[in-house]
Amino acid sequence: MYRILQADKLAANIYRMVVEAPRVAARCLPGQFLIAKSDEEGERIPLTICDYDREAGTVTIVFQPVGASTTKMAELKAGDSFMDFVGPLGRPSDLVDEPIEELKKKKILFIAGGVGTAPVYPQVKWLHEQGVQADAIIGAKSKDFVILEKEFSEVCNLYVTTDDGSYGRSGMVTKCLEDLVAEGHEYDHCVAIGPMIMMKFVCKLTEKLGIPTIVSMNPVMVDGTGMCGACRLLVGGEVKFACVDGPEFDGHKVDFDQAMQRMQQYKTEEGRAMLKLQEGDTHHGGCGQCS
Ligand code: NAD
Ligand code: FES
Repeated sequence: MYRILQADKLAANIYRMVVEAPRVAARCLPGQFLIAKSDEEGERIPLTICDYDREAGTVTIVFQPVGASTTKMAELKAGDSFMDFVGPLGRPSDLVDEPIEELKKKKILFIAGGVGTAPVYPQVKWLHEQGVQADAIIGAKSKDFVILEKEFSEVCNLYVTTDDGSYGRSGMVTKCLEDLVAEGHEYDHCVAIGPMIMMKFVCKLTEKLGIPTIVSMNPVMVDGTGMCGACRLLVGGEVKFACVDGPEFDGHKVDFDQAMQRMQQYKTEEGRAMLKLQEGDTHHGGCGQCS
């Protein structure tokens, strides 16, 4: 069992939990995810890692209840436990393999949207610990949905923007990036993590600006183990699976329209059957749901 040491609400419908999981904490790196299961009946839920403390043996998760299992998970309190807390899974961010001296020469920008702000934090924190100062934009619908502002401001140059202008700058993250560039900021590398639609439009913009961009395709995952086939993507025309080949990919090569359409189709039994028919052998189909 994996004990919850701390549980709090960061914003309406956004929860944070610090969980005792020394083996995950000892090995996880920025960009990776884990699978949590609250009890015997609960589903296995892939969750991004928001923070980890190797000495304390803890891992922090941030999530938004979207279905029955995550809603039940949100009811857990400090002192309760997860039955399973498996990880780290997926490939770490490419940044951790780059020589630090090369990273120091780069002007790196992180763009975090909504709940997607959580998986950006370990990357920015890791760079800060290596002596690399990056810029970050956090975008949220309104003031009440801005999360982790204090944590980010301690490890990077932070710009907060809200869609309705109720806090920080006004407008979506794409407008904030356009404004920063107009103000004279130049970037060599961008990491954008948030809703699919946000990542799609950030990539359109950074392609125009000539800024290589990495995105995290966590939102398409279902079982997170390479078995269900839900996270099948087209990246540069090649079939990839977000949970085993990613979750991070070159955003300028991801076919976002196909991924978003497929996500919708995967939600129904009929849609899954159609996907299996269309995708043949490249659809994993190990979930037992596609007959
Ligand atoms: P949201 O809808 O509040 O959007 C967050 C920000 O994204 C907005 O404030 C805006 O700045 C930007 N944005 C949204 N639409 C945009 C557009 N069309 N063009 C430019 N920018 C745009 O976000 P939310 O409700 O907190 O997000 C929930 C989603 O985040 C879920 O779909 C979940 O799957 C996803 N998510 C993604 C990851 C990941 O790893 N990519 C991790 C956690 C959650
Ligand atoms: Fe990747 Fe199921 S989430 S195959």
